Amino acid sequence: MLFLYKINNSNCTAFNCNFAPSNKTTTHTLKMIVGIIGSGAMGAGIAQVAATNNCTVLVYDSNAEALSKAEQKLKTDLSKLVVKAKLTQAEAEAIITNTTYATALAQFAQCDLVIEAIVENLEVKKQVFTTLETIVSSQCILASNTSSIAITSIAAACANAERVVGIHFFNPATIMPLVEIIPALQTNNDITLKSKTIIDSWGKTTVVAKDTPGFIVNRIARPYYGEAIRIYEEGIADFATIDWAMREYGGFKMGPFELMDFIGNDVNYKVTETVWQQFFYEPRFKPSFTQKNLFDAQYFGRKTGRGYYNYAPNVVQPEPDKNEMLAKDIFTRILCMLINEAVDALYLKIAAPADIDNAMQKGVNYPKGLLHWCNQIGAHVVLAHMNELYNTYQEDRYRPSILLKRLAQNGELIDLI
Ligand SMILES: NC(=O)c1ccc[n+]([C@@H]2O[C@H](COP(=O)([O-])OP(=O)(O)OC[C@H]3O[C@@H](n4cnc5c(N)ncnc54)[C@H](O)[C@@H]3O)[C@@H](O)[C@H]2O)c1
Repeated sequence: MLFLYKINNSNCTAFNCNFAPSNKTTTHTLKMIVGIIGSGAMGAGIAQVAATNNCTVLVYDSNAEALSKAEQKLKTDLSKLVVKAKLTQAEAEAIITNTTYATALAQFAQCDLVIEAIVENLEVKKQVFTTLETIVSSQCILASNTSSIAITSIAAACANAERVVGIHFFNPATIMPLVEIIPALQTNNDITLKSKTIIDSWGKTTVVAKDTPGFIVNRIARPYYGEAIRIYEEGIADFATIDWAMREYGGFKMGPFELMDFIGNDVNYKVTETVWQQFFYEPRFKPSFTQKNLFDAQYFGRKTGRGYYNYAPNVVQPEPDKNEMLAKDIFTRILCMLINEAVDALYLKIAAPADIDNAMQKGVNYPKGLLHWCNQIGAHVVLAHMNELYNTYQEDRYRPSILLKRLAQNGELIDLI
C-alpha cells in the first residue's frame, strides 16, 4: 500500500518553485593575515577564498604530501580560471603570491585569524587549538570549520575560550556562497561580529547559528535524504523516480540520491549518524540501513564509481517512472518534512527566520526558503500533511513542530524579516 500524502490540487501552485533573487551585499575586503590548518578539500578552498580577497594566507597541514598537492591544485585551478577568462593572469599571480605553505604551526604567530579544517575528530582538534594558543597573539580569532562537532566542546579545551568561534564553509568553498558563523557558549560577542564582518568582506553570505548539532543546514536538510530513503525502502518508488520528482516538481537542482552520491555517502552517512547521536537519538534524525549498507560497502558515490547509481563507463542509468501523481506525492511528503524541520529550528531559535531561509538557498541551493514556502502553502496545509503521516505511521519521526501547530491554529504567517 502507498502511504503517501495526497496533495490537494488547489494547493499545487504553492508547491511550484521560483528562484529567489540573490541578496549579496557589496563589502570591502579587510587586509589581514589568515592561517589555515588542513589543506584538504575544505582548507584548500578556504585558503583560495582568503587569498583571492587579498589576505596574506598561511596554509599548514601535518601531511607534507597533502600540502604540496594543495599547492599544485591551486596553480592548476587558477590556470583554468585564466583560460576561461574568469581571472586575469595578474590576479591569478597575486593569489599565488598571497599564499604561503607553512611547514610548522610556529609560522602562524602573526595571524589575525586561524581557520582549522582538519580531520573531523574532537580530540585532534582540541590538541591543535591548545597548541595554537601558545603560538598566536591574544588578539587572534580561532575558528573551526567543523560540520558536526560542537564549537563549545572545542572552545572548552582553550585557555581563552572567548575567542573561539565556528566558521563553517560549504563544499566547494570557492563556489558556495554560504558561511555559517557559530558562536560557542563561551564566545565573546565581538568575536562573533568580527568573524561575520571578515567573512562578509570576502563576498560570502553569512548567517549566525546556535551551537547545536548540524547548525542550520545540516540539521534542516536531513529529511531531504532521510525521507527519500524511507520512500525508497517502503518500495513506493526507486531512486531515479524520487530524484526526478524532486527536480521536476520541486525545482531542486539535484534529487536526493544523486546529491548524496555527489556529496559522498561516507560524508553524508557520518553527518546523519553524528546529528542523530548528538540529538540524543532523536527519531526524526535516525539513519537508515540503506545508507549504512552503502557506507559499509564503500559505495560512496561518484568518487568511488558506485553509490545509489553505478557510474562505470557505458552503464545505462535507470529511467524514472514519470507518473505525475506519484511525483507530486513524493515531493509533497519530502517538502512537508523539510518545512516542519525548518519551522522547528525557528521555534528553538537556532537562527533568525531570514537566516534560516537564506542558509538553505545559499548553502544547499534550495529553490526557495522553506519558511517562505510554508507561508505560501499555508501552515495548516503542511500540518495536515504532517498529521496524516503521523497518524498513519504512529512514529515520532513525523511529529509536527509545536510552532507549526500554533501557526496553523492562529492562521499566522512567519515574519521573515
Ligand atoms: N568535506 C566537506 O564537504 C565539508 C564541508 C564543510 C565542513 N567540513 C569540515 O571541514 C574539515 C575538513 O574536512 P575536509 O573535507 O577538508 O577533510 P580532508 O580529509 O579533505 O582534509 C583534512 C586535512 O587535514 C589534515 N590534517 C589532519 N590532522 C591534522 C593535524 N592534526 N594538523 C594539521 N593537519 C591535519 C589532513 O592531512 C588533510 O589534508 C572537517 O572538520 C569537516 O567536518 C567538510
